[in-house]
Amino acid sequence: MSELPAPYGRSTTADSTSAEGPAVKKIRTRHLQEMKQRGEKWAMLTAYDQYAAQVFDEAGIPVLLVGDSASNNVYGNESSLPITVDELIPLARAVVRSVSRALVVADLPFGSYQVSAEQAFHTAVRFMKEAGAQAVKLEGGTQMVPQVEMLARNGIPVMAHVGFTPQSEHALGGYRVQGRDETGQRILDEALALQAAGAFAVVMEMVPGEVAADVTSQLDIPTIGIGAGRHCDAQVLVWQDMAGLRTGRIPKFVKQYADLHATLLQAATDYAADVASGAFPADGHTF
Ligand code: KIV
Repeated sequence: MSELPAPYGRSTTADSTSAEGPAVKKIRTRHLQEMKQRGEKWAMLTAYDQYAAQVFDEAGIPVLLVGDSASNNVYGNESSLPITVDELIPLARAVVRSVSRALVVADLPFGSYQVSAEQAFHTAVRFMKEAGAQAVKLEGGTQMVPQVEMLARNGIPVMAHVGFTPQSEHALGGYRVQGRDETGQRILDEALALQAAGAFAVVMEMVPGEVAADVTSQLDIPTIGIGAGRHCDAQVLVWQDMAGLRTGRIPKFVKQYADLHATLLQAATDYAADVASGAFPADGHTF
């Protein structure tokens, strides 16, 4: 019997039981592994603050990523490169405090883990001690094997990230699909090496669908796609993309499930108009 009643064991109380079995209080990496074995697909979203995290947890999203994409979705930077560990830790702490079930994964920012396995360990420990993150994510292929081994060996669940890796945007020549033609084999080799090193899951960003399908079928750990087609075990989107809060050019791989930009724009416009006209505050808003 499935330990995670659909969707992902969501329940109204943390330790309730259902006809399908005991509900899971907290998503663990082993639940993601079990879902892969059962062929159950799942969704991951980024989260950077209390209310978004609460909503996604309530929706049954099993994994929330406090991505370094906070750099360009919270802090107003052009890319994910400028964000620092000190800037990301408070956001991770807010997300951890706001969920009851979701597994919270924190991204290791650019420059905070590439130098050595020891550097990666010290940064990951900060996210776990100061924010309460339950796992970390880092970008890179086989060159990250020592880092992944160090973290996994020392009790830190680590999610890998291959294909297009935004922290290497300048080296990769911009936002480009990775793994076309013969380089598809390299993505598979990297994913296999990261799995052998101890990664519990691997994000694949902007890789051809057939490459992602091949990697997914050859890996025992879950693959999480973003611009990697439908055959991954899971999918991830930046929440502001998914909910239509971001405006401007939207990547091809994004599907928008709401138009929060329009909703918020209307609300702010109506509020300002009410204040200008004197319709707000009314008697009912006054002590
Ligand atoms: O930082 C991020 O948001 C990410 C995902 C989109 C995979 O790395």
